[in-house]
Amino acid sequence: MSLRGNDQTMDKQADTSPAIVIFGITGDLSRKKLLPALYDLFKEDILDSQTRILGTSRRELDKQALLSSVELDLLSDDQVSDSSVVEKMNQALGLIQVDPENDEDYEKLKQALDELDDHHKRLRLFYMSIPSSAYEPIVERLASHELNDERSRLMLEKPFGHDLSSAETSIKFAHSAFNEEQIYRIDHYLAKEMSQNIIQFRMLNPSFNTLWNADFIKNVHIKQFETIGIEGRADFYEQTGALKDVVQNHLMQLLAITLMNVPTELSSEAIHASKQEFFNTLNPADPKGAKRAQYNTYKNEVNNPNSSIETYARVTLTSNLDSWQGTEFILEHGKAMSEAIASVTVEFKSSEASQPNNLVFQIQPNDGIILDLRVKRPGLDNQVGSTSLDFRYRDAFKNFKSYDAYEKVIVDAINGDQSLFAADKEVLVSWEVLQPIVEAWAGNSEGLSSYTVNSKESGIT
Ligand code: BG6
Repeated sequence: MSLRGNDQTMDKQADTSPAIVIFGITGDLSRKKLLPALYDLFKEDILDSQTRILGTSRRELDKQALLSSVELDLLSDDQVSDSSVVEKMNQALGLIQVDPENDEDYEKLKQALDELDDHHKRLRLFYMSIPSSAYEPIVERLASHELNDERSRLMLEKPFGHDLSSAETSIKFAHSAFNEEQIYRIDHYLAKEMSQNIIQFRMLNPSFNTLWNADFIKNVHIKQFETIGIEGRADFYEQTGALKDVVQNHLMQLLAITLMNVPTELSSEAIHASKQEFFNTLNPADPKGAKRAQYNTYKNEVNNPNSSIETYARVTLTSNLDSWQGTEFILEHGKAMSEAIASVTVEFKSSEASQPNNLVFQIQPNDGIILDLRVKRPGLDNQVGSTSLDFRYRDAFKNFKSYDAYEKVIVDAINGDQSLFAADKEVLVSWEVLQPIVEAWAGNSEGLSSYTVNSKESGIT
């Protein structure tokens, strides 16, 4: 498979291959996720050799040093770096110094893009691999320098605002420069293989649909735990915290794809319509049902003895639909926990409370789907035991290549498929639902407990 821009009828291949402009190419996200993803897409021949990457940075950049740092990251991930692929990237990559507030630099960028594209047809992806607080001057100038025409797509990284009102402002701002159809708000959790499978599994196995309501489901528990802490991102995290960093986006999106009505078809329109319909039924979160905690070395790490920022958050949501009365949706995220796991657990009501009957979508590690079963044990009597149906990708599809979420993000943006991106209204309604907690937790430490880094006895229950 090789990827081109939308219009397959164009004559020259160079015109149809995308130009990917990465703002902040030297940043952590770009070096750890984006460039390795592009590397793999070149390696698999999914990106054709005419694809061009233009990296921008405030400072003058050394291409070889940048490529070597990507190679080092690949090696540290146990991947063998293939010199012929690095050479392909070398050919595809151009670097350009851009001061985000300097208009002349955008003219240079425009000229560089025009030189790649004498037929005005090459798709342009503007990837903001920078903190979202830094988007505005860039987005504004892309528009004022006419880099927002129909060839252009804007790719934005979260967080999309830090509360309801800032999200409204930032969405409005983006819309002043690009149409919603041109905006790709990345939520890389949606692009993970297992998340995609939650949608497909529900469409392909209708037998579960009749069980998808409060008569059968006791609760749905979405959990994302990491063993790592904030990894030096003190400034970012002090303004964010667990609720805004992961719950508001990744976990809310996972909740929506798990509980929305099964879409009528696997299209972006149908998926977004179903998600939005579900989001609209969520009741505002009750801060009394929420928990927050901070790991015990955090204050030192961020050098703020008074920090009230949570590194762990647990939120319980409910829906106003009759069919979901009594079912709780629990969203839980923590850093420096004792295990690293991301999963969606659908807990079915069971006659024996001590024997849960769960359907688990395990997103990572070892992604798969596990269904708990109660069965009769072999023997002449009627003893019962517990077992499970356990599907794991790595066992079931041994010879299949798995792609990183960022590879899917890039491929879908090139193809113009917005299915696995966050739409404007979804972002707003997620903030709206969580706003009571955002307000209750702002600027105080009430109820903030402390837990020991990586400890099984963290005390958070
Ligand atoms: C990011 C958060 O969106 O997701 C990080 O900003 C978090 O704090 C990361 O660590 C988790 O993603 P993954 O794919 O490593 O589980």
